Amino acid sequence: MDDYHDTTPHPFDAIPEIVVPQEERRNPVAYLLRAAIEAGPIFRRKTPTRQVSRYGPWQVYLVGPEANRFVLHTHRHLFSHRQGWKAFFGGVWNENLLYLDGAEHAAHRKIMAPAFTPACLSSYLDVMHRVIVRRAADWGERDAVEIRAAMRDFTFDVVAEALLGFAPPERVRALHEARNALCRNHNAYGKAAYWRHVAAQRAHLNEMLTAAIATRQQRNPPDLLARMEADRDDPAGVIDDEHFIGHVQVLLEAGHKTTMDTATWVLGLLATHPAEQERARAEVETALAAHNGALTLETLKAMPALGRAIDEAGRLRPPVDTAPRGALEDITFAGYVIPKGTFVRLHLAATHRLPTVFADPTRFDPDRFAPPREEQRRTPYALVTFGGGPRICIGMQFAQVEIKALLAHLLHYFIIEPISGQTPPNVYDPADPDDSLPKGLPLRFVKRR
Ligand code: HEM
Repeated sequence: MDDYHDTTPHPFDAIPEIVVPQEERRNPVAYLLRAAIEAGPIFRRKTPTRQVSRYGPWQVYLVGPEANRFVLHTHRHLFSHRQGWKAFFGGVWNENLLYLDGAEHAAHRKIMAPAFTPACLSSYLDVMHRVIVRRAADWGERDAVEIRAAMRDFTFDVVAEALLGFAPPERVRALHEARNALCRNHNAYGKAAYWRHVAAQRAHLNEMLTAAIATRQQRNPPDLLARMEADRDDPAGVIDDEHFIGHVQVLLEAGHKTTMDTATWVLGLLATHPAEQERARAEVETALAAHNGALTLETLKAMPALGRAIDEAGRLRPPVDTAPRGALEDITFAGYVIPKGTFVRLHLAATHRLPTVFADPTRFDPDRFAPPREEQRRTPYALVTFGGGPRICIGMQFAQVEIKALLAHLLHYFIIEPISGQTPPNVYDPADPDDSLPKGLPLRFVKRR
C-alpha cells in the first residue's frame, strides 16, 4: 500500500516532540501555542527528571477544538480523570469528585448537582453580596488595593460561607490558613518529607473542617452539605467518610483559586481598558436602576456586556489552563497512538489563543462574543474555560454569578484605576517573556458616591 492510502495509525515515537527552551519556560502558553500551530493538535514532551515519578517519562499535549470535543465529549470514556488530577494535585487531597471516573463519578455528581440550581444560586447571591460589602468597605480610603491577595480572601470567604455554610469569619480565616499551610510544601514531591508534610497538614485541616461542619447553621431547604451528609448516613448511600471530607476540600479549593484568578484578571483588564470599564459601568447603572437598586439574579442577567468582559478574561487567562487525564487504553487521535497509561494534557489555554479559532486572539476584545460575531459559537468546543461535556465545571454558574456581583458592586461605587509604575499598562502582554500571573496587582478604587 502506498503512503497516501495507508491509514495505519502512527506509533508513539512518530508523535512530534517538543523541547522547551530554557528562556521560554516562564511563558508556557506561548510555546505550546507555537507547537500547536507548527506540529498540529498532538505533540509530546519528555517529562523533566524530577517529575517522572509523578507523570511518567512522556506527556502528550492535545490542543484545539477537535481535541476538546474528543476528550471532553465523544471519547471521554477512554480518559481517566483520576490518573490525571491525582498526579496533578500531588496526592494532597482526599478522594473527591475530580478524582472519580465513570459510573462512580456520575453517582456522586448527581447528589451535588441540585445545590447549583438557580434557586440555590439566588440564596448564595445574598451571602456573596454581604461578603463583597464587608471586604470592600474601606477600599476607597486606601492608596492601593493589592487585588490578587484581596481576591484570594474574598473568593475563599464566598465559597466557605455561601456554598458550605461555614461561619463565623474568624473560623473561615483559620480554615483558609490551614489550607495554605497544606499547599505550601517546600519538600520535593515523592520524598518521605513531602508525604509527612501532606499527612500532618491534611489531618490538621480535616480536623478543622469537621469542627466547622458540626457547628454550622442548618439551612432550609437542605444545602449541599446537608445533601452529602444525608447520603453519607444512608446505608445505601455512595458517599463514605473519605469522599465526604474530600468533596468539601475540593469544593473549597476548586471554588476559590479559579474564581480568584479570573476576578483578578478581569479587574486588571478593566482598569487598563477604561472605555470597556465605562461601558460596563453604564450597563450596571441601567440594570440597577431598572431593578430598584437590588442586586438579584435578574439584575445580573441584564448585564450582558459585563458577562462578555468576564468571558474574555477567562478566554485569555483560563485559570484551569490544562485538563489532565490518563489514557485508559491505547487511544488513536489524529492518526497517532497514545499508549495506555500515558499522562495527557488537554491544553485549554493554548486553544483559546489559536488564530484559526479566535480573531486577533491576543487582544482583549469582549465584543468577539456579541452578535453577530459570536466567535465562541462558530466553532464548537473553542471556548472551554469551564471544560465541557457532562463533566463541565459544576460551579460554573456559581463562579459567574460571584464575579459579576463583585464587579457590579465595585463598578457602581468606584472608578477602578491602574497605579502608575506599579500596575502594568496592559496586564495582559503575550509578548512578555514572563507571562505568568503577576504576584501582585495593585489597583486604586476612587469613590464615585
Ligand atoms: C472562574 C471559575 C472557575 C473555572 C474557570 C473553573 C474551571 C473548571 C474546569 C475547566 C473544570 C473541568 C476540569 C476537567 O475537565 O478536568 C472544572 C471542574 C470542576 N469545578 Fe470548576 N471552575 C471554576 C469555578 C468553580 C467553582 C466556584 C466551584 C465550586 C463551587 C468549582 C468546582 C469544580 C468541581 C467540583 C469540578 C469537577 C467536576 C466534575 O468532575 O464533575 N469550580 N472547573
